[in-house]
Amino acid sequence: MIEKDNKEIQERIEKIIEKVKALPTLSLVVAKVIQVVSNPLTSASDLSKIITVDQALTAKVLRLANSAFYGFPFRIQNIAHAVSILGFDTIRNLALTVSVYKIFTGEGKEGFSHQEFWKHCVGVAICASLLAKKIKYKSSEAAFTAGLLHDIGKNFFEQYMHKEYVEVFKYVKDNKVPVYEAEKRLIGIDHSELGKLMAEKWNLPIELKAGIAYHHYPEQEKDEQVMAYIINAANILCKQKGIGFAGDDIIEPISKEGRLLLNLDGTYEEMIMNSLETEIKEAEAFFNMPQY
Ligand SMILES: [Fe+2]
Ligand SMILES: [Fe+2]
Repeated sequence: MIEKDNKEIQERIEKIIEKVKALPTLSLVVAKVIQVVSNPLTSASDLSKIITVDQALTAKVLRLANSAFYGFPFRIQNIAHAVSILGFDTIRNLALTVSVYKIFTGEGKEGFSHQEFWKHCVGVAICASLLAKKIKYKSSEAAFTAGLLHDIGKNFFEQYMHKEYVEVFKYVKDNKVPVYEAEKRLIGIDHSELGKLMAEKWNLPIELKAGIAYHHYPEQEKDEQVMAYIINAANILCKQKGIGFAGDDIIEPISKEGRLLLNLDGTYEEMIMNSLETEIKEAEAFFNMPQY
């Protein structure tokens, strides 16, 4: 595949938009979870009732709640207990992530290791949550989930445009450009722009959309710019640290604005890097998450 002219690219993008529209919806249970969590009148027992309808989701949430990542010194036996301990936002975000990744299953094909890719996503999630806590961002939980989902557009390309995506990876290697640049040149749209369409299709909360859509161009996000910068920086720090692999190893600097907004200086960066290492070890429960 060579770099294509405008008309061809335009047609291709239109086809992609059609495919995004045709993507499966998130499960009904998850749609309901998102809805009730945003209602201030919802009780823990309302939320538990909705989740327990979906047995597989229930099992997954319990497994995660009992994992070393959360590190509770006791066993969480049921969803009602998990909801009261982890809180509405965590439960919503776990349900959301499980549901989104359920749409993209299957073994990684040539040029794309699912395992390394997922490791990258978990790393970015953890790092984003650390950065969010540091600046007291309104929800470190949302930063975590945005991190897990930030590169979701790559899953789409890999699953629905596999042949073209193999070319993209080859182009990245030969030309030493970042994946998003190669996607732009060869396909005409990159995974973050595509992720934005997916976030809109699924009605994801706006802060998640910001992290997904603008993690490569945080300066362009207007409403939830802090989140865009959090995911941008988390992505860069994880690449620096070599956690997982998402297609290229080009490390771009964190911009001045980003550093300022995130209060990120050399000392703090080092601290984040160290915590990241420990937390990654404890996050094993997340590594098996896509195999729902
Ligand atoms: Fe990305
Ligand atoms: Fe990434």
